Amino acid sequence: MSEELINRFSMVHPLIKAAPLKGEYRVPGDKSISHRALILPAACQRRVRITGFNTGHDVMATRNALAAVGVVFKDEGDALLLSPPAIFQCAPQTVIDMGNSGTSARLLLGLFASLPNLTLTMTGDASLIKRPMRRVVEPLRAMGASIELMNDKTLPAVCNALSVNNSLVKTNQLHGIMYAMPVASAQLKSALLIAGLRALTPITIIEPLPSRDHTENMLRLLGVDLVSEGQYITINPLSAEFANNQDDMSIHVPGDPSAAAFWCVAALCCTGSSITIKGINGNSYRTEFVKVLQQMGGQIIVECVGQSVGEPLWNLTVHASPLMAVRTAAHQSPALMDEFPILAVAAALADGETIFEGLSELRVKESDRLHKIEELLRLFGCAVEAGDDYLRIIGKTIVTSGDPIHYDPALDHRMAMSALILARAVNRAIVIENVDCIATSFPTFLVDFNSSVMNK
Ligand code: S3P
Repeated sequence: MSEELINRFSMVHPLIKAAPLKGEYRVPGDKSISHRALILPAACQRRVRITGFNTGHDVMATRNALAAVGVVFKDEGDALLLSPPAIFQCAPQTVIDMGNSGTSARLLLGLFASLPNLTLTMTGDASLIKRPMRRVVEPLRAMGASIELMNDKTLPAVCNALSVNNSLVKTNQLHGIMYAMPVASAQLKSALLIAGLRALTPITIIEPLPSRDHTENMLRLLGVDLVSEGQYITINPLSAEFANNQDDMSIHVPGDPSAAAFWCVAALCCTGSSITIKGINGNSYRTEFVKVLQQMGGQIIVECVGQSVGEPLWNLTVHASPLMAVRTAAHQSPALMDEFPILAVAAALADGETIFEGLSELRVKESDRLHKIEELLRLFGCAVEAGDDYLRIIGKTIVTSGDPIHYDPALDHRMAMSALILARAVNRAIVIENVDCIATSFPTFLVDFNSSVMNK
């Protein structure tokens, strides 16, 4: 298939039976940690050497945004050297395009809001400009930030807007607040913690349910004074001398468990498969999907092989297994949020009725994932019902023959990968719109996927 065609769509040929997956499967660096490995040292004005980072479009959006405000990057082989500026600055009328990346947009709103000498506009692609930003902007405004949103809801956002007479609306530092978050969101939590680094007084955040804690772990590694007790997280602002007292630092980004989840489900569902995925992040807020798949009967062997950036490092060995239905509760959902698309594929291939609860946040991801999961499974003939915040999937109702399926993942990388894994598992031809959206998180996926299909 030519490069140009691969960029427009990808097709699983109906006549080639997908071979079992064997050997070692690779995953890119953890996307969540890669964003933080760029943003947090920059925010703390610490020079850092980063290896293993995710080179997908999302993390590149973060890198480009930081470069636009004065952070200097130097590529040195596989490593990236980051040097923060003494003073963050940007050209007049700077527009920063975050592409598809909600993490870049939300975390950097926290940073930019705390830098009163910066005036810039932040925007994104057709998917990102529909996603809710007010959840971040409202508490930042309560801290004293000046940020304007389109219809007070979405990007484009103008940070530190100039007033009519061209003077800054806000010139003061932010102040701390006590804030009870209305949604369990690691992006919201992180934006506020980052803004709190430069505030005049401490900020305390109350989480309704725990979410991934990479920001807290990395800020502690950076020497920031952060206390986390139950639902409460308090961050004390950086002192004036903080930057002067710090040595250069090295960060090695572990493999992305959310990317590994795709190969796990592919291997579990394709008879005769047996694979190993090495060096993934084993953080418990990211690996709940392993427990769920094991509960479904999946043979996944976890080996803890060390630590990286204050997080456990795992190898996973996965053997093809018959799967059965499962039920997950709302309190589990923040730790499964990114994996529901591929878990829905596993459920569609499992015996019995699966129910996933507490899914309302899926409506505001890179696509309306509740709708997109339902649409995908229905296209394959699977009996599925998406409620406001739940999914009910009757396994083994998929139709395994018929015309090629045509699916538009709405620029959502995880929906595109889930569709390909499902088509592979049931050996149906599929055409995916804009399949290149997968490169937002997993630039090597299509190459490995195509060789796993052709490699009989
Ligand atoms: C992320 C947090 C999650 C997740 C997203 C990445 C992060 O979103 O879905 O893909 O890196 O902080 P929430 O902010 O909704 O938890």
